[in-house]
Amino acid sequence: MGDKQKTPLRRSPWPSQSVLDKPLPLADDQLFRHSVISPLRYPGAKRQLVPVIEELIAANIPPPRLLVEPFCGGATTTLRLLGSGAVEHGILADVDPLVASFWRTASFDAKWLVDAMYELDITVEAWDKWRASSPTARRDRALKCLFLNRTTFSGILHGRAGPIGGRAQASPYKIDCRFGREGLARRINGVADLAATGRLLDVWQCDWRTALARVSKSFGNLDEAEIMFYLDPPYVEKAPWLYEWSFESAEHTKLAATLRSGLSYRWLLSYDDTPTVRALYGGDSSYTTLHVSYRYTAAGSEKRTVKDELLVTNLSTIPQSDRYRML
Ligand SMILES: C[S@@+](CC[C@H](N)C(=O)[O-])C[C@H]1O[C@@H](n2cnc3c(N)ncnc32)[C@H](O)[C@@H]1O
Repeated sequence: MGDKQKTPLRRSPWPSQSVLDKPLPLADDQLFRHSVISPLRYPGAKRQLVPVIEELIAANIPPPRLLVEPFCGGATTTLRLLGSGAVEHGILADVDPLVASFWRTASFDAKWLVDAMYELDITVEAWDKWRASSPTARRDRALKCLFLNRTTFSGILHGRAGPIGGRAQASPYKIDCRFGREGLARRINGVADLAATGRLLDVWQCDWRTALARVSKSFGNLDEAEIMFYLDPPYVEKAPWLYEWSFESAEHTKLAATLRSGLSYRWLLSYDDTPTVRALYGGDSSYTTLHVSYRYTAAGSEKRTVKDELLVTNLSTIPQSDRYRML
């Protein structure tokens, strides 16, 4: 951000009453016009869904004041909506300590993260060391997350995926081909800017149930309609291969039961379109199910395929749009 930096970097989360304040101007609002803002490449990132989500939120006046993303992963949606001003404040949460540490460090300790990122060796030997390591300190976890996410096939942090380019590095795509340091520094500083200006208020490492409970405890100063959850849980089918903390089927059922029991906040859920999800969310008139179809490169594949997603929401206004079809 260099000379354009207006607001000092923030070292700690904002107190909950800051949700009532208007955010300060961004130092680098150009960044948020780019399609890729997240420093993480995330399996299941919903980049193509973001304009649809933005359109839905904009149609519901007044917009929520606080957006909470309890399965944040690469956080594409929250970063975009905060950067565009569609929502004033946001909170990220994820159960994975590597992911949560990354977002906390990018938000409130970005200078350290950027400096440490420039010092990293991007080699297969370093990849082996990071893969075998089990850091417990937040900064080390953040760096492990960034390193593995940018150097592992499809950005997969856990499990069996290998380094980009393979162990022999015989492919034209080498291990460092996704590790453009300047671009990463700009995006990390963009996250820090969201935090410094009072847009990104906090980052939590917790399970989705705890995130829901923590919101009601911490933001009792808001009307319930001013809070919205964007929930993007692990895929029903592929998740065990992609994430350490993937859901078992009982978890999908519990999440559906919580949302169907009439959560008093506004919420929007995105899922892969499968018979399981249709069965979990079918036949209830208290919310709307939308079908969205777009072209997509699946994790673990080089081919572009058509991806079918479902958006389920209790937002009351659903505008006509050629981006989706109402089920
Ligand atoms: C589909 S990904 C989210 C992708 C994200 N929307 C994006 O655009 O990058 C699902 C995330 O849920 C997290 N997760 C899995 N189980 C969880 C749980 N019980 N509570 C909270 N987060 C969980 C995983 O660590 C993963 O980051």
